Amino acid sequence: MSNFERAVEALSNAREAVVFTGAGISVESGIPTYSDPLTGIWARQDPETLETARAFRENPRLIWGWYLWRRYQASIASPNAAHLALSQLSGSGRKISVITQNVDDLHERAGSVGVLHLHGKLSTPKCFACHRPAEIPPPPAIFPADGALIEPPRCGRCNGKLRPGVVWYGEDLPLGIWKSAIALVKNCDVLISVGTSGIVTPAAEIPKLALSSGATVIQINTADVSTGMQNEVMLIGKATDVLPKLCALIPRKVSN
Ligand code: APR
Repeated sequence: MSNFERAVEALSNAREAVVFTGAGISVESGIPTYSDPLTGIWARQDPETLETARAFRENPRLIWGWYLWRRYQASIASPNAAHLALSQLSGSGRKISVITQNVDDLHERAGSVGVLHLHGKLSTPKCFACHRPAEIPPPPAIFPADGALIEPPRCGRCNGKLRPGVVWYGEDLPLGIWKSAIALVKNCDVLISVGTSGIVTPAAEIPKLALSSGATVIQINTADVSTGMQNEVMLIGKATDVLPKLCALIPRKVSN
């Protein structure tokens, strides 16, 4: 049996499946991964350096502008065939839960509901001082081509600077979301891990937790990221090629 056939069989027999996604699922919507070089005024910067509270403290305009630029990129992107295939899979009579490391809203715009964002969202800034969530206007129709140093707005309650509502290196994941994700992973029959390098913990532990809980893990990636564990199936290819083909072969599950 080929790896693809093993994946079809496991997913067809599943009652509950979790889809765990990383930056690779948004690549074909035009959103770069973390290994792609940065552009504009952030070129030659290392994302790991920029994604920290220290960087924001030292240069709030550079970091706030970078996230506005990324929010603008996400706003002009569209969900791709991989996002749409996952949303349609939810209609197959199975419980399909999406857990993502991505901060864009492409899963939601493809129709997925209840998406768990482990690393926060571009659309939900908060106060750097009092942590109160804040609203900001939608991204501009045109963004300065080379990006821009933009002064962060101020908090309506304490006048602190607003910061992006994402999880930075050295910060804890939102506890409630993490606990919900772990409960889903421990109870699923299949976990599909799509477009993630599996480097940044604790999120990177999720596929291993699924395997140790007895699930089958289907890895979809343009690179071979398999760990060689027994109940793991590695499907090498683009998410927009592999996921629609896989989901199209999954029969509707009649609830018994
Ligand atoms: N289809 C499937 N996979 C792809 C595609 C594609 N078209 N293009 C790239 N990939 C894969 C790459 O091979 C890589 O394994 O997507 C993965 C992207 O890896 P990263 O850029 O490290 O993104 P991710 O795994 O989501 O990073 C996790 O790190 O920087 C932090 O908080 C940030 O959430 C992010 C976390």
